[in-house]
Amino acid sequence: MRIRPTEAEDVEGISAMLTALTAAGKRTRPSDPDFVRATYVANPQLVASHVAEDDDGRIIGLQVVMRAGPDDPFGVPEGGGSIGTHVAPDAGRRGIGRALFARTRPMAEAAALKTLDASIADDNDDGLAYYEAIGFRTDRTGDGRIVKRMTLG
Ligand SMILES: CC(C)(COP(=O)(O)OP(=O)(O)OC[C@H]1O[C@@H](n2cnc3c(N)ncnc32)[C@H](O)[C@@H]1OP(=O)(O)O)[C@@H](O)C(=O)NCCC(=O)NCCS
Repeated sequence: MRIRPTEAEDVEGISAMLTALTAAGKRTRPSDPDFVRATYVANPQLVASHVAEDDDGRIIGLQVVMRAGPDDPFGVPEGGGSIGTHVAPDAGRRGIGRALFARTRPMAEAAALKTLDASIADDNDDGLAYYEAIGFRTDRTGDGRIVKRMTLG
């Protein structure tokens, strides 16, 4: 397994991984290639986007950080960022999420983001445990979501 920056050619592989997460009941947002390209690969708000690739070249993880603009719809303060993490359902609990954040965090700091917010469904035990384990703490709750935050710097 290796972690590397996301490339334009990864769209199909990321889409396949996210579709598998949806089929496993672990994702509700879209996973089609156009959504993946616009959100995770060629999004001007991206500060970091990395994939985890297995030895056969299959995408088994994705982590992104996006810079918040003014009046962020999810309440992320200007100057802060939001983070999203996705690991293939058959590759969980092997340290891929931790390995992704080891690459992401320095890039978020280099981009001078003050905070990182992770918005997690309040019944997503895996996501809540993961972000807690890597150092995020609950900042706010509501509408079925728990937002965990890490302060950088
Ligand atoms: C949440 C997610 C990204 C975790 O990725 P992962 O590669 O399995 O995480 P890691 O193996 O690096 O785990 C790191 C730590 O997080 C915690 N953790 C992760 N998954 C856990 C689980 N299912 N139960 C309890 N703790 C868990 C543990 O403390 C773990 O450390 P340990 O294995 O040494 O005990 C993955 O489960 C996933 O993609 N889920 C679906 C999408 C999602 O929920 N994304 C996040 C919210 S939007």
